[in-house]
Amino acid sequence: MAKAKTTYACTECGGQSPKWQGQCPQCGVWNTLVETIAAKPATRFQALIGSASEVRSLSSVDTVANPRSPTGIEEFDRVLGGGLVAGGVILLGGDPGIGKSTLLLQAMAVMGASRRCLYVTGEESVEQIALRAQRLGLVNAPVELLAEVQLEAIVGAMRLRQPEVVVIDSIQTMYTEALESAPGSVAQVRECAAQLTRLAKQSGITVILVGHVTKEGAIAGPRVLEHIVDTVLYFEGDTHSSFRLVRAIKNRFGAANELGVFAMTERGLKGVANPSALFLSQHGQAVAGSCVLATVEGSRPLLVEVQALVDPAQSGLARRLAVGLDPQRLALLLAVMHRHGGVETGGSDVYVNAVGGMRIGEPAADLAVLMAVYSSLKNKPLESKSLVFGEVGLAGEIRPVQRGQERLREAAKLGFERAIIPAANKPKQSIDGMEIVAVARIGEAIDWLKR
Ligand code: TYD
Ligand code: MG
Repeated sequence: MAKAKTTYACTECGGQSPKWQGQCPQCGVWNTLVETIAAKPATRFQALIGSASEVRSLSSVDTVANPRSPTGIEEFDRVLGGGLVAGGVILLGGDPGIGKSTLLLQAMAVMGASRRCLYVTGEESVEQIALRAQRLGLVNAPVELLAEVQLEAIVGAMRLRQPEVVVIDSIQTMYTEALESAPGSVAQVRECAAQLTRLAKQSGITVILVGHVTKEGAIAGPRVLEHIVDTVLYFEGDTHSSFRLVRAIKNRFGAANELGVFAMTERGLKGVANPSALFLSQHGQAVAGSCVLATVEGSRPLLVEVQALVDPAQSGLARRLAVGLDPQRLALLLAVMHRHGGVETGGSDVYVNAVGGMRIGEPAADLAVLMAVYSSLKNKPLESKSLVFGEVGLAGEIRPVQRGQERLREAAKLGFERAIIPAANKPKQSIDGMEIVAVARIGEAIDWLKR
């Protein structure tokens, strides 16, 4: 195949340069030039006047023709918004070794029974995959394997075998002849993904791209692909615990922020249908600095323990550290507690942590963070079987959060007896066995803890 002409484009301003340079000649930003394929002016013109694409009226498009086909792995289907869509492109990102290949091999083994699946591996040999399949008890699974890293050869195999679902493991190992950049470079990753996406849309093949994320999530990582693909899923979790979370960051075909929960066992990933109790530590008795938060992840409520440790600062500068929660927000909350609750933490180091490798983004965690901090500061445990949620505003007010009822019901189901919640979330009817402490200001919540 003749090499396509390439040029270098700036990822910041879109400026072009015929050769690579450290600094963009147009906008002057450093290290932004990336190799891209130059479109021939003639073809661009032909595309304009040729109008080969069919234009259709919205009402004439048949939506029933695009049903969702479940993968058969319930927690995976949940994050996908019900299943795979023909022609859809999914990016599954995550740290190396977290379980991406395992999950996809398991899903393919189930799907293989009803449709043709092709697993393209650029990282492992087919023997290594067979070994993994043996470990998972899936040796006889009807999955077709291809060990290949060259995109043109993969596309050829796809045309020949006509699979319905293709896994590319991983997009960072693939390269196209059209570019001179090394595999794994931003240019290669982006171009390979773009070509596969085009093929998926034309042929109706579902393509699942695996992408490794570095700790920063930036360097040639799958972040550059997020806008190309339809669905972005990220594997999260603490490699030290066996729980793995798959989160939908973006989904053109379903709700974003949906969460699938798995446990990694010696026979692969197993879905956890009722994960609420996973993120609570088992304390024999109530301990200071611990507070249970009722959060909502996608479509379901989850109980997560938030822990805080407040310790006199060792150096002149007090440290604030948050794991699984927003560190900026922690600083803000401590300021609100100082100004509106009269609780001083300026001379102390403050550490907070969400248990079990959970990452919480919603502001409903605010009140739980402050309760845990106050509890650690005063060395006074919250009464056991208590749970907390609520957003804290800069004026010291406790704001309501969405789906308060569902959070309370989940907690009641797990045997919680007390809830400290925003006054506006107070249920109209009482919940059996649940005492509701409704607070409107941060001061009220602190007074309640002081009793
Ligand atoms: P893998 O799917 O290879 O990760 P990725 O593709 O995201 O890099 O997962 C590998 C890890 O999972 C490895 O540390 C071993 C572990 N594992 C199990 O605990 N049980 C199993 O049945 C399998 C197949 C892997
Ligand atoms: Mg892998």
